[in-house]
Amino acid sequence: MTAPAPGSLLIDGIGSLVTNAPGTGEGALGVIARAALVVEQGRVAWTGPSAHAPDADARVDAAGRCVIPGFVDSHSHIVFAGDRGREFAARMAGRPYEAGGIRTTVAATRAATDAELLGTAERLLREARTQGTTTLEVKSGYGLSTAEEERCLRVAARVTDETTFLGAHVVPAEYADDPAGYLDLVTGPMLEACAPHSRWIDVFCERGAFDADAARRVLAAGRRAGLGARVHGNQSGPGPGVRVAVEAGAASVDHCTHLDPGDIDALASAAPAEGVGEGAGGSATEATARGGTVATLLPGVDFATRQPYPPARALLDAGAAVALATDCNPGSCFTSSMAFCIALAVREMRMTPDEALHAATRGGARALRRTDIGHLGTGARADLTLLDAPDPVYLAYRPGVPLVAAVWKDGELVA
Ligand code: NIG
Ligand code: FE
Repeated sequence: MTAPAPGSLLIDGIGSLVTNAPGTGEGALGVIARAALVVEQGRVAWTGPSAHAPDADARVDAAGRCVIPGFVDSHSHIVFAGDRGREFAARMAGRPYEAGGIRTTVAATRAATDAELLGTAERLLREARTQGTTTLEVKSGYGLSTAEEERCLRVAARVTDETTFLGAHVVPAEYADDPAGYLDLVTGPMLEACAPHSRWIDVFCERGAFDADAARRVLAAGRRAGLGARVHGNQSGPGPGVRVAVEAGAASVDHCTHLDPGDIDALASAAPAEGVGEGAGGSATEATARGGTVATLLPGVDFATRQPYPPARALLDAGAAVALATDCNPGSCFTSSMAFCIALAVREMRMTPDEALHAATRGGARALRRTDIGHLGTGARADLTLLDAPDPVYLAYRPGVPLVAAVWKDGELVA
């Protein structure tokens, strides 16, 4: 028998292991019952039945509980200052959600020190981690000047590799009379300053923010600067966001609350190819070549802004690729809980518990064009969450209950 690899970890006694690698286990989630998993050098080295588990340097007993891939939260805005709890209370009393509230956070963010911004971002990252999130995308968008957006992205880059430049969030007050001038700034000097700290560019394509032509310009400029495209669209009403995103080959269009049948068809036709990278993580080049646009649903926003929920059932039935994310931000949705989003998706959007879990893990990975996360096939990053539950259905079945017992990121215990 070969000696265990130095530093290897065996997680044994897993009642139910969700791999999201269909070839590896049962069903679309690739579930292995009475399973074990071995981590070596931060990667999944082996999965299979407990009875066949190899030796490792260290061993953890899951005591019959379930292990899932860490949540991939592909949409957040955790670099900000200030508080909008009163705005939420007013909304619950009947006031509509307005994108203009973003300007309140812009003023508070500009007034905050670097240390304050980093402190809040780190606290929210920790909060997400302890709830099972192992990858978190983070956007700018509350600075809205060249220096402030760059500052927000430097902070974002301290807490994640998945950084997104969202200078095109809304037109700031000082450009209220010159939106064209702001667009020139965002696609010119601001982009130039922010691109080195960003992986993605995003635009809020919505009435009251940026129209289709402006959004196309933002995404094209981002592409020339080497950034991948993402879009906020169809949040408050029907609009061109989905079509703009699909045309531009964006990795994801997020919100998708108000879709017409043409939007659903467009997303179904644009779904990224399934199956690639379900085993070992593929290269970035492969991931980019695969392309496709994911519909990222943010049900926490619809909850906190009293909107209808996105038509998840119609999207899935049409063949669109769906992700779930929190959109954690101080205005439209201040949750970092992916489990809450899963519960909403199951109860309010008629996703099955399996579909919701897949969307919160592998779906998020696809929305970030990542093949190394969101699944636990051999070679994947060892980003995994041990639930205090015998079955992942508990995420929706026991809403609001903290069910996360332990979290490993790159094989290290982080919560
Ligand atoms: O994704 N839609 C635009 N941006 C954020 C809201 C930000 C805010 O209200 O502060 C969102 O919902
Ligand atoms: Fe957002």
